[in-house]
Amino acid sequence: MIQIKEEISKLVSLLNKYSYDYYVEDNPQISDTEYDTLYKQLEKLEEKHPEFILENSPTQRVGDKVLDEFEKITHKVPMLSLSNTFSTEELREFDSRVKKLVPNDKVEYICELKIDGLAISINYENGKLVSAATRGDGTVGEDVTENIKTIFSIPKVLKEKRSFEVRGEVYLPRKSFELLNKERENNNEVLFANPRNAAAGSLRQLDSKITAKRRLSAFIYSIVGDDSIMSQEHALNIAEDYELPVNPNFKLCKDIDEVISYINYWTENKKDLPYDIDGIVIKVNSYSTQEEIGYTQKSPRWATAYKFPEEELATKLLDVELSVGRTGIITPVAILDPIIISGSTVSKASLHNKDIINELDIHIGDMVVVKKAGEIIPKVVRVIKELRTEGTNKYIMPTICPSCKEQTYVKENDPFTRCKNPDCPDQNIRKIIHFASREALNIEGLGDKVVATLYEQGIISHTIDLFSLDRTRLISLDRMGEKSVDNLLNAIENAKQSSLDKVIFALGILNVGKKASKILAEKYLNLTNFMNATLDELINLDDVGQITADSILDYLSDENNIRFINDLISIGMNPQYEIKEVNTDNIFAGKTVVLTGKLVELTRNEAKEYLEKNGAKVTGSVTSKTDLVIAGEKAGSKLAKAEQLGIEVINEEQFAIMVREVQ
Ligand code: IVH
Repeated sequence: MIQIKEEISKLVSLLNKYSYDYYVEDNPQISDTEYDTLYKQLEKLEEKHPEFILENSPTQRVGDKVLDEFEKITHKVPMLSLSNTFSTEELREFDSRVKKLVPNDKVEYICELKIDGLAISINYENGKLVSAATRGDGTVGEDVTENIKTIFSIPKVLKEKRSFEVRGEVYLPRKSFELLNKERENNNEVLFANPRNAAAGSLRQLDSKITAKRRLSAFIYSIVGDDSIMSQEHALNIAEDYELPVNPNFKLCKDIDEVISYINYWTENKKDLPYDIDGIVIKVNSYSTQEEIGYTQKSPRWATAYKFPEEELATKLLDVELSVGRTGIITPVAILDPIIISGSTVSKASLHNKDIINELDIHIGDMVVVKKAGEIIPKVVRVIKELRTEGTNKYIMPTICPSCKEQTYVKENDPFTRCKNPDCPDQNIRKIIHFASREALNIEGLGDKVVATLYEQGIISHTIDLFSLDRTRLISLDRMGEKSVDNLLNAIENAKQSSLDKVIFALGILNVGKKASKILAEKYLNLTNFMNATLDELINLDDVGQITADSILDYLSDENNIRFINDLISIGMNPQYEIKEVNTDNIFAGKTVVLTGKLVELTRNEAKEYLEKNGAKVTGSVTSKTDLVIAGEKAGSKLAKAEQLGIEVINEEQFAIMVREVQ
């Protein structure tokens, strides 16, 4: 037994060391397969001996807590922001200001890369990571502890039992960002505009399992609450000693000229980094000089952020292509003479809709200015009219659909050009792809390419045709073996058993995502009721606003859509939404309950489910209407509010006793 415990402990140390080499030092010592083999070995041992699982084991970074909302954390020291500088002149002015404030000091600066992510504060107590919060408004942030624990480069346990707060930036490496967006594209999900947005969206997930999958990373740039630290350089060295992830590219500069050289170097070379930076942070190195210089209300006077100019380049607009989406919206895309912006080749840019095209006053053949300000989809920002040649014509959105050649239409006060033809090929292909996608009915074997082939071969022309596919005809197709055809037909048959929320989502109604589909399923319980939804009902639903309600009614007022839903019902796709049976005869029934703080025995979601099953309404904030607050560990502002309002508060143990009484 002792041997196994030791083996587990050794594997944990070794894997953590390899992770550090990989994520922090950027210097992998073993191959991914070797790492995986060791990881699996550890998993196996831990499965057999869960009593020996260590808190800092890499297997514990998978994220197993689902929260209902984020708790708030008040920062011990406010998280300030930085003043911005946009030119070398402004930098020299900053240097003069600093020197005027401390005329007797010899000022040295430390330059660091300004990582383009989101600021984070992490608290260690006795060497253990106990909490982590986003910056929020600088005073109060959101408790993202569980999510931060999933980031491999951040140690959950330090080498020494020290207590301090560290601050840094959580970011998504470019590669992870591209993979994530590819996956989202395959699932018909909205793409993240840039790595920063993706990092923020990934960190602010209530389900830390999702965060764990996103491959976030972090760099630490300051330590708060350690009086022995003398300078920023010292802080970074200490952080490195604790194996915290410190960006290795910082540089101590003896004067502003050296700072400017550093900036020039990174302006040229930032494209080679595996993550985005949006500038350089310049800080006075000595802590005592920093204190002398002081702060404004919002930012330190001893530091500034030099922001890189956004890259704008001119190129020729070769053409405008149109793409027809599943909802019939026709999106114009600028086809450009390829140019390299921030290290990547740009040959397309979104033109969004007819209003933007009109505003820009675009002619094909124009020289246009394209900007890529950290966004993945570059924008055409303006046309260089001085370079326009004679004989070019203003581009006007066509009145004919590029796919089916039917007349397009435009709604009043709406910038989009739409195709309303129910037989439009591009629209129908996109509809079928969405219907079969993983987030919708998850029909395996029916990806983009197969759908396009089936459509081109005239085997399907509408989604409903999926349910009357002919096996022999499918087998006769190139690259479709008997086995894959049978698997596909089975998957289609199984899809008939999908839950109502998935079916509603699969319809592909504009603005109706997964969340709204669930709410609609809960309200209408089956497709027949849903078809008769009214505006009044819809706008009274949580999370369904006027725009979504209008889209739903628009969809349901189209006879083709109604025919489609009726067809689905008649082929046996008629899911009934199951309402959870509610027990109304107990102490929780009819009560409005708020859960706050960390629960130990249950997750908050489990507690919520239990309460709802027993007739309680679980809400997110404490108001005079709240009957009961269940406060777990480290409950914050909600507990205080409940006490202030005189609302009954119980702890987790008391809750457990009440639960036993109910049973
Ligand atoms: S120092 C008083 N150093 O830039 C604020 N910030 O407003 C001290 N950032 O959101 C911040 N890289 O999270 C500092 N090396 C770096 C940074 C950095 C990115 C972010 C920071 C904040 C923003 C500055």
